[in-house]
Amino acid sequence: MEKLIIHGQKRLHGEIEVHGSKNSALPILAAAALVNGVSEIHNCPKLTDIDAAIHILMHLGCRVSRSGHTVTVDATAMNNWEVPDELMREMRSSVVFLGAILGRTGHAKLTTPGGCEIGLRPIDLHISAMEQLGAVLEEDAGKLDFHAPNGLQGARITLSFPSVGATENIMIAAATAKGRTVITNAAREPEISDLADFLNGCGAHIHGAGDSTVIIDGVPKLSGTCHTVIPDRIAASTYLLAGAVTQGKICVRDIVPAHIGALLPVLKEAGCDITASGRWVCLSAPPRLHRVKMTRTMPYPGFPTDVQAPLTAMLTVADGTSVIIENIFESRYKHAAELIRFGAKISVEGRMEVIEGVPYLTGASVVAPDLRGGFALILAGLAARGETVVTGLEHIDRGYETPEAILCALGADVKRVQDNGTAKEYTKEQSTKTDGETGVPKGGNKTTGTPQPGTAVRETTAE
Ligand code: UD1
Repeated sequence: MEKLIIHGQKRLHGEIEVHGSKNSALPILAAAALVNGVSEIHNCPKLTDIDAAIHILMHLGCRVSRSGHTVTVDATAMNNWEVPDELMREMRSSVVFLGAILGRTGHAKLTTPGGCEIGLRPIDLHISAMEQLGAVLEEDAGKLDFHAPNGLQGARITLSFPSVGATENIMIAAATAKGRTVITNAAREPEISDLADFLNGCGAHIHGAGDSTVIIDGVPKLSGTCHTVIPDRIAASTYLLAGAVTQGKICVRDIVPAHIGALLPVLKEAGCDITASGRWVCLSAPPRLHRVKMTRTMPYPGFPTDVQAPLTAMLTVADGTSVIIENIFESRYKHAAELIRFGAKISVEGRMEVIEGVPYLTGASVVAPDLRGGFALILAGLAARGETVVTGLEHIDRGYETPEAILCALGADVKRVQDNGTAKEYTKEQSTKTDGETGVPKGGNKTTGTPQPGTAVRETTAE
C-alpha cells in the first residue's frame, strides 16, 4: 500500500504551475467519442480518472494514444455502445459518456455509477434529459439501455439543479441532435465553457456556455480539432491553501484568477495577502490565520464544494471558530473524523461543520476518505508538528498529479513510499528547469511579482 510520509511545519515558498483541469478533460475526452475524426487534447493531466476515461474510449473502439500531456483520440471507427460495469466503476463521472455514445450511435448501454464516498450522486437529471432529447430507456438488471433509433431531437430542458455533469451530457448529446436544444438553469462552471470551446472547435454550434441558458443548434456531424484544457482551478486552490496553512509565500501561475474568484476573499478574510494578475495568483500568509466566519458551498461562481475539505484543513489552525455549510453534496465531511486525529476540533451536524481553530496540529496516521478530503489530510500533515502518514492515495491520485513533487518544490518534506518500500522523493534544485511534460513543477524560490522560472524537482530513490 503506497503512503505519503510528511514531516510538517515547513513554510512553503516558491512558485508552481498546476496541471490541466481534470473536470474539463473528462467531459472533453467523452465528447471526443462523438467526433467523426481525430481530437488532439493538450494539457490533459496524468491522473487515474483520465486513465479510466481512456479505457472507456478504447473499449468503445476509439484509437487513443498519449504523449506526455497530450491525448489523441481517433473515434472514426467507434463501433461499441456498451460500457461494462467494471469500467463504469473505475470512475464516478463515467456517466458523462452517455450523451456522446448515444449521440454517436443512437444506442447506449451502461450501468449506474452508484453511490460514492461524498453522497448518493443520483443521475436522474442525466436520464431525464436524454429522454427529453428523444431517447427511450429500458432498465435491464441494473443496466440502463438507451435507444434513439431515429437520432436525438433538440428539446427545451430545464434543470431543477444546475448539475455540472448533466449540463455537459446534454451539450454533448445535443451537439449532433436534430434542431435546437435550450438548457435553462445550466451549470456555469468554467469547465462547461471549456467543453463548449472544444465542441465548437469540432464544428458544433453552442452559444451561452458559462451562462445559465445554453443554446445548442445541432449539426449533422463533428470533425476533429486540437484543444488545450484549462488549468485546474481546484488544484490551484488547494495549493494556495497549502501555502496558507504553512504560513507560506507562494505563487501559482498559468491559471485563470477569475476561476478561483470565490476563494480569494476567503483567503483575505483569513489574513492572507493576495496579489493576482493576468495568469497568476500570489499568497503571503500571516503567522496565525484568522477564522473565516461563514463559508457556503454553492454552484459556480460560488464557493466550490471541491475546495471545502482543503479549506476545512486550513481553518483547523486558524484563530477562532469558523463555520462551513455544504450545499452541494449531502455527506462531504468524511475528512472531519480524520482531521480530528491531528487534534483538530471539528463538529459536524447535517450540512454544517464548525471548526474551532487550535494553535497547532500533531502528526497522525490517517486514511484519505475521498479525493479532496484526502488532500485535506495532506494539508493538515504539512501544518502539523512531527510525522504524518497518509494512506488511501488512490483517491488523491484521481485528481492531483504528483502532489508530493509539487509540495517538495515548495520546500515541503513529503515522500511517497511505494508498495515495495521504495521511496519516491522530490528535492529542490537551484537551477535546472524541469520538462513540463513530466508533470512536475517548474517551481522556484521567488515569492512575489511576476513568476520566474526557478528551481526544479528530480526524482530520487531512497534506501
Ligand atoms: C462535478 C465535478 C465534481 C464537483 C461537482 C459539483 C466533474 C467530473 N466532477 O460533479 O468534482 O464536486 O461537479 O461542483 O466535473 N444531482 C442529482 N441528480 C443528477 C445529477 C446531480 O441529484 O442527475 C445532484 C448531486 O447528487 C449533487 C448535485 O446535484 O448533490 C451536484 O452534482 P453535479 O453538479 O451533477 O456534480 P457532478 O457533475 O457529478
